[in-house]
Amino acid sequence: MGKTANRKTDQLPAGSQKNKYRMTVKPALAYQLVIDCIGFFLIFQAVMTFQFQAEMLWVYIFWALFSTFTEMKPITMPNNDQLTISFAVHISALILFGAPTAILISTVANIITDTIGKRGLKKMLFNISQYAITIHLAWLVYDIFKWNTGPLHLKTDAPAMIFSCLIYVTVNFFLVSTVISLSQGTRLVRQLTSDIMLELIHFASLVPVSLLIVILYDYEPLSIIILLLPLAMAHFSFENYMNLRTETRNTIEALADIIDQRDSYTSEHSQRVARYCSKIADELGLLGNNYENMITTARVHDLGKVSVPDSILLKAGHLTLEEQAIMAGHAQVGFKILSNLRFYKHSALYVYYHHERYDGKGYPKGLKGKNIPLGARILAVADSFDAMTSDRIYRKALSREHAIKELMDNAGTQFDPDIVQVFVNILQRENALNNDTRKE
Ligand SMILES: [Fe+2]
Repeated sequence: MGKTANRKTDQLPAGSQKNKYRMTVKPALAYQLVIDCIGFFLIFQAVMTFQFQAEMLWVYIFWALFSTFTEMKPITMPNNDQLTISFAVHISALILFGAPTAILISTVANIITDTIGKRGLKKMLFNISQYAITIHLAWLVYDIFKWNTGPLHLKTDAPAMIFSCLIYVTVNFFLVSTVISLSQGTRLVRQLTSDIMLELIHFASLVPVSLLIVILYDYEPLSIIILLLPLAMAHFSFENYMNLRTETRNTIEALADIIDQRDSYTSEHSQRVARYCSKIADELGLLGNNYENMITTARVHDLGKVSVPDSILLKAGHLTLEEQAIMAGHAQVGFKILSNLRFYKHSALYVYYHHERYDGKGYPKGLKGKNIPLGARILAVADSFDAMTSDRIYRKALSREHAIKELMDNAGTQFDPDIVQVFVNILQRENALNNDTRKE
C-alpha cells in the first residue's frame, strides 16, 4: 500500500495569462498573497520562539534532511495535486518538538526541494506558507486535546493525535485545492473531491507511520532511519500504481483518437464529446469519481469501432441491415475492452448503453428512461450534438441552432429531457457570451 498524503501544488498561475483567464487568475493571485502573508507571519513567529540549542544541532539537521527526503519526488495526481509523504514527518515533529520546530523543518525542506525541482519562487512561497498554516492549526488542535504535558502517552493522547491529523488533512486539502481551483477556473468542490478516496487511504496509512516515528524516536533517535526504506518503497509502489493508471488511460485514449481518425469526418469527435460531457456533468453537479468517470469514458466511447471494417465505417450510402448490426456492435465491443481495465471498470456500462434511447427504442438492450445509466444518457446527448454539428460523409453539418432544435424536438423520445434542457441552457449561455464578445 502506498503511503502518501500531503497535497502541495505545482499549479499556480504563470503570470502571463491571456485576457480570458483574467477573471480566474486575479482571485488566485490574491488568495496566494493572503496565504503567503499568514504563512510568513507564522514562520517569523516560529523563528522568534525557536530556542536554539547547540547540542541539538545534529537533531535539527537530521530532521531537516528527513523532511527533505519525504518531500522529494512528489507524485502528480490526475487532478494536479502533488502528493508527498511529508505528512508523517510533520505530525511526528510537532508531537516531539512542538509547532515552531515542525514549521521550520518543513520550511527548510521545501526551500531545498522546490529549489532543486526548479518550481519557481511563487510556488515555493505558497508551499512553505500553506504548510506553516497547516502545521500550526494541527498543533493548536493537538495542544487543546492533549491530556498530559510531556511525551506522548498513547492511551490518553490518541484522540489528540487523531484530531490533529484530521485538521492537518482538512486544512492541507482545502488550501491546495483552492489555489488549483482558482488558477484553473474549476469548481472547488470538484477539486476537493477528485481522487479523494485514494488520497484519504494514503493519508490514513501514514497515521501509524507518524506514531511509529514518535515511539522509535523516544526509544532511540537514530532508529527512525530504519523507517526510510519502507517509506520509500511504499511511495514508489504508489507512484508505480499511478503511472500504470495514467499509461492505461493515455494508451486507450490514443487508440480512441486513431479510431476517430480512420474517418476524416470524425477526427477529434471523442475529444469534443468529452468537452460537452464535462460541461453537462459540471452543470449537473457531478463530483469525484462520478465526474471523472464521465469524462474519461466520453473520451473513448467509440473505441468499439475498432471492430467495424472500413467498408462499413466509411460507406457514403445507406447501410444494409447486416451492416447496421455490425455498426451497432461497437457499443458491446467497446464495453468488452473497457470492462477488463480496472480504470474503466465502473464506467464501461456508459459505453455499452450510449446508443439507448429514452423511449426504449435504442440498442443494445432497449432500456428505457432512468433505467439507462446517467453517464450513458449524458453521452447520448453530447454524442448526437457533435455528430449533428460536424460534417459527415453523407451530409453537411447542421448549424448549432438547428442542432439545438433537433435536441429539443427529440427530448423525451430519443434523449433524457432533463439533460437536453441542461445542455441547451449551456449552449445558449455560450452563444450569448460569444455575441457579447463580438459586439465588444
Ligand atoms: Fe457510438
